[in-house]
Amino acid sequence: MSDLTFNKIAGAVLATALAIVGLEELSSIVYQSKPAAKAGYDIEVAAETPGGGPATPELPPDWGTVLPTADVAAGQAATAVCQTCHNFAKGGPNMTGPNLYGVVGRKPGTHEGFSYSPGMVAEGDKLGTWTYDELNTFLSGPQAYVQGTKMTFVGLKKQDTRINVIAYLRSLSDSPAPIPPPAPKAAAPAAAAKP
Ligand code: HEC
Repeated sequence: MSDLTFNKIAGAVLATALAIVGLEELSSIVYQSKPAAKAGYDIEVAAETPGGGPATPELPPDWGTVLPTADVAAGQAATAVCQTCHNFAKGGPNMTGPNLYGVVGRKPGTHEGFSYSPGMVAEGDKLGTWTYDELNTFLSGPQAYVQGTKMTFVGLKKQDTRINVIAYLRSLSDSPAPIPPPAPKAAAPAAAAKP
């Protein structure tokens, strides 16, 4: 074998090797598969309670815990949707709905000069005053809560929003309603965590 032939063969082998390596590189670039973010696929499963029944409705907030940290300004901003029907100023007028200054602690259905639905008047006799809990339930779905209410508003679905709105409503008073002390059970998990 002449040197020239050897060189030719060696060159061909080298070129082939390079081509194979190159192809591998190339295919790994072309076919590089991104790992799936999560293996498998999601199956929507309704939240279950230990009893196997439907998910429990959301618990009422612990007002002593949530009110001191509520975002009153965000609550005020969220009442933009209420202002087509309600005025919030002290001594302000009744509109489609009654003036809401001082509504926390007021007897439902009793603001002067407003013609309430019989359902709301009955609510007043039942409740005595608007508490944080009652306002929270009412605002989550007025029509579901007070039969035949004139308040044709779907409600505020997010509990956080309702808490902020209620904190804002509370602030609209010459002497805002007291905030109850935080429920002891709210402190329990921390205590239980201690060895
Ligand atoms: C489409 C008009 C409308 C909108 C929007 C509306 N309301 Fe009302 N609201 C009413 C009417 C009407 C009543 C009186 C209900 C009755 O007599 O049954 C009322 C009653 C109330 C009461 C009870 C007042 C009382 O004196 O007992 C509260 C509290 C209240 N609304 C809060 C709100 C808040 C907070 C919002 C916004 C998140 C809101 N409303 C949005 C029309 C409205």
